[in-house]
Amino acid sequence: MDIRFQVGGPAQWRADAVIVFLFEGEALSDGAPELLEAAPWLGIAPAVRDFRGKKDEVAVFHGHPDLAVPRVIAAGLGKREAFAATAPSGLRAAAGAALRRCRELKIETVAVEASSLARLDAVALARVAATGDGVQVWSPFEEAVCGALLGLYRYDRFKTNGNGNGGGNAGSETGEDARFEPRWLALLCAEASVPDDLHAAARKGEAAAAGVALARDLVNGPPNFVTPGHLAEQAEAIAKKYGMKARSLGRAELADMGMGAFASVFRGAEEEPRLVVIEHAPKGAEDQKPLVLVGKGITFDTGGISLKPAAKMHEMKGDMAGAAAILGMFEALGRSDVPRRVVGVMPCTENMPDGRATRPGDIVTTLSGKTVEILNTDAEGRLVLCDALTWAQREYSPEVVVDLATLTGACVVALGTDVAAVFANDDDLSGRIRGVGDVVGDRFWPLPLWDMYFENLKSDVADMANVGPREGGAVNAALFLKQFVDKGVRWAHLDIAGPAYTAKKTSTCPGGGTGFAVRTLLELARGGV
Ligand code: BES
Ligand code: MN
Ligand code: ZN
Repeated sequence: MDIRFQVGGPAQWRADAVIVFLFEGEALSDGAPELLEAAPWLGIAPAVRDFRGKKDEVAVFHGHPDLAVPRVIAAGLGKREAFAATAPSGLRAAAGAALRRCRELKIETVAVEASSLARLDAVALARVAATGDGVQVWSPFEEAVCGALLGLYRYDRFKTNGNGNGGGNAGSETGEDARFEPRWLALLCAEASVPDDLHAAARKGEAAAAGVALARDLVNGPPNFVTPGHLAEQAEAIAKKYGMKARSLGRAELADMGMGAFASVFRGAEEEPRLVVIEHAPKGAEDQKPLVLVGKGITFDTGGISLKPAAKMHEMKGDMAGAAAILGMFEALGRSDVPRRVVGVMPCTENMPDGRATRPGDIVTTLSGKTVEILNTDAEGRLVLCDALTWAQREYSPEVVVDLATLTGACVVALGTDVAAVFANDDDLSGRIRGVGDVVGDRFWPLPLWDMYFENLKSDVADMANVGPREGGAVNAALFLKQFVDKGVRWAHLDIAGPAYTAKKTSTCPGGGTGFAVRTLLELARGGV
């Protein structure tokens, strides 16, 4: 679906349907005063009186089909105070729900009045003023566009009949009904030309949604398709499209370089492993110390010789969600104007049981020189990440390193499925991640990096073991990674095992891959960390 603009005020506006966002108890004239000029029939449409403005409520009102605006779709925002407390997630949800209804009704062209959106950040700001919380800046145009696009997200790449049961961003190329997508969403302006800030905000929303959609596609893709080689191709395609640099290293190079920990994971895999690297170095920032992102790219995690139970093993196709979030972020970065130098490093491999696979009890030498006793081959994420961290710091002398990984089931036990943990050696960095995450809908909560937990990883025969006791499992894993972070480097580790993949369907996500952390990473780069 394209994002467009219409200018010149109500008399000029044309669309098959116009969406109006309303709080509980509001009249149409409160939420969209100018719309009544474009669709005067609304003033006397009896059905309007039944609309309550409740959260998740969507209603369609009809005027005469020959009118410039023959339909109005009202989307409820719920109670004002509740909206303000969680803004802008309520706006994204309402926009997603409205666009889904448009798709069900096969409405081709949709619009929303800019001034009816513009009032919404004032509602949130009023609450910030009342509660004294830090001001979180967000744009209702960006969030409405992003929510609308994500509402239409589906994954139907492997559906042959387009029966709508799942679906995809492949779009409507077959012309079949189940593949129907609205053609465009227009932002309606009263001005004679599109205001610059409106234009920029809409483009940001589009960029963010495209990045999230790519990350979702990669997580939803089956593991016989989304292989390490596929992730390398994606990086190359993004780099080519946006004038970035990409490269990837294969099995022999990685082993020769001394990445004993990474190699211990790919030993058992027939599928070629890759260290995928992508770099955004805008003009003038080529020599800047970069923001380096390191993402776990296990394209399938069987557990290795420490084999996982069969029941939910298929979900481990999503064990590359860290790498997927980085690729999604670079897709969004390519569509944005961000002066910061950013590098993505993604260690990608399957974790398989095999005659050559690593045994519990094996000792390996990491790229850093430190030795690790592998007590459980299912704790593979930290093994691929530790070598990637060492390599990235040697290669790029980063200003800041953020790694992200579907690292531990223990993190899901600690924080639930909707929240990721943030571990950081820098409180400001941790706070920034939480702050931007809250705005874009990626929820983070801090867990400690106390060195006393490193005791848990003691080995009798090597410098450390790759696992500790079950208790505090997410912290143990973070402490393992901390051993590979150089002094003076600002570092955060995000354990996204819970929210990267979901069974829940919402109005902005049909379940499966969520694209969690894509927008947070983008905002970190934009904010200049
Ligand atoms: N990829 C898993 C972690 C995971 C679990 C991600 C659930 C998403 C949902 C990771 O490689 C793993 O297997 N971790 C083990 C570590 C343990 C052996 C110390 C775990 O969490 O059980
Ligand atoms: Mn594992
Ligand atoms: Zn894993």
